[in-house]
Amino acid sequence: MILPIESAVSCAENNCMDSDVIEGGVATDASRAQGRMFPAVRVGIDLVHVPDVTASIAEFGDRYLHRVYSPGEIAACTSDRGDLSAERLAARFAAKEAVVKALRPAYGIDYRSIEIVREADGAPSIDFGTAGAGAHLLADSGVISASVSLTHDGEYASAVYMAITDFSTTAGTSQTTTGAAR
Ligand SMILES: CC(C)(COP(=O)(O)OP(=O)(O)OC[C@H]1O[C@@H](n2cnc3c(N)ncnc32)[C@H](O)[C@@H]1OP(=O)(O)O)[C@@H](O)C(=O)NCCC(=O)NCCS
Repeated sequence: MILPIESAVSCAENNCMDSDVIEGGVATDASRAQGRMFPAVRVGIDLVHVPDVTASIAEFGDRYLHRVYSPGEIAACTSDRGDLSAERLAARFAAKEAVVKALRPAYGIDYRSIEIVREADGAPSIDFGTAGAGAHLLADSGVISASVSLTHDGEYASAVYMAITDFSTTAGTSQTTTGAAR
């Protein structure tokens, strides 16, 4: 079986060298019984209709914006001329939804605690903060490593989030804090 490189590395770090006991990123009963830790892959995807975001801005204005997006996200979606891009906000909303789909929190989460950050080269990453709901979600989900990608064009915006999590979460047993920041 072929595992993603990150999974294989993580597996090696956890001293689980017998890849036969991993199926589709999920440990088998045999490996669980042996108490071994294995990585699992979580993926989430979301598609947002940009006119819905435009309508929310028109109807609720700042109340909508500041309830869903961080100041940094709003700034990143505002042009030098001061125009707010509903298209780019929609992509960030899709990313937040993709995170929730992938990590499936058992509780409601403040979307501002899942902050889409723009790196110097324009690539997105996610800042879950260090102490709030986002940080707890990350820790509860046992995220070891993750990546997000956005796209937007006209009426639609979309995002994919993929995370490698430790085995304990997949098995529904105890949860592990990894200290991962994104
Ligand atoms: C990054 C790139 C793939 C974006 O593609 P696109 O079809 O124009 O735009 P999309 O709607 O699909 O994606 C836009 C999102 O891509 C993401 N993005 C931007 N730069 C990125 C990068 N270097 N790596 C990964 N993702 C990137 C951002 O999240 C962006 O959303 P935002 O502008 O709201 O922050 C494209 O600009 C590219 O190939 N850039 C790298 C090469 C380059 O800079 N060439 C310059 C011209 S030769």
